[in-house]
Amino acid sequence: MSNEKNIAITIDGPAGAGKSTVAKKVADRLHFTYIDTGAMYRAVAWKALQEKGACDDEAAIAQIAQKLDITLEQSPNGLRVLADGQDISEEIRTPAVSHVVSAVAKIGAVRERLVSLQRLLAQKACVVMDGRDIATHVLPNAAVKIFLTASVDERARRRYAELKQKGFSGSMEELKAQIAARDKADSEREISPLVKASEAILLDTTHLNIEEAVEAVINEAKAHI
Ligand code: DC
Repeated sequence: MSNEKNIAITIDGPAGAGKSTVAKKVADRLHFTYIDTGAMYRAVAWKALQEKGACDDEAAIAQIAQKLDITLEQSPNGLRVLADGQDISEEIRTPAVSHVVSAVAKIGAVRERLVSLQRLLAQKACVVMDGRDIATHVLPNAAVKIFLTASVDERARRRYAELKQKGFSGSMEELKAQIAARDKADSEREISPLVKASEAILLDTTHLNIEEAVEAVINEAKAHI
């Protein structure tokens, strides 16, 4: 049911800054719905890889984004991502998808489709929404805007620990180069690049643990809501 009083907290920032972990915990604490917009771009990239084996045909990928039914389902094990009813929560986190997702996310028609879905979700519930352009473009009237960041070294270290747990091999240096390349692609793209909204609060998590970052966002939320 749509409710004009629905509150939104936006958390933008580069890959590996801790956005999804922090956003999920803030949402749980406040009983808001967590919306991972990166997962939506990843779902389109996954489908494009399935259907085309590549992500270089922009028109074909725009069509895929248009047709794909993407659902985010809250579950006790975290957020599940469904594409046309199929649970692809694990598949969208593979290095293959990470490798192509920036190319998918720069396609205007893909962004238009996903942004309209994201706005619809924010109309239906109080949300904590994380991404790159949430404060600047998707929900410019959000009550609370956070820009979460951390040094490239620290972000690579976190991603390495996360991937290692899942059994992926590869070096830290490689990961650091990938993260830096994705930062560059996301920040320099023409449409809705990753940029801090001037009114967003900057939260550097390089020396913060998760609970400290969550607490900082909750305090910010309390001050504004
Ligand atoms: O947060 P993530 O790593 O799961 O995001 C995957 C990609 O999607 C990343 O390269 C940036 C892009 N993205 C975007 O362009 N806009 C968003 N709102 C969210 C993610």
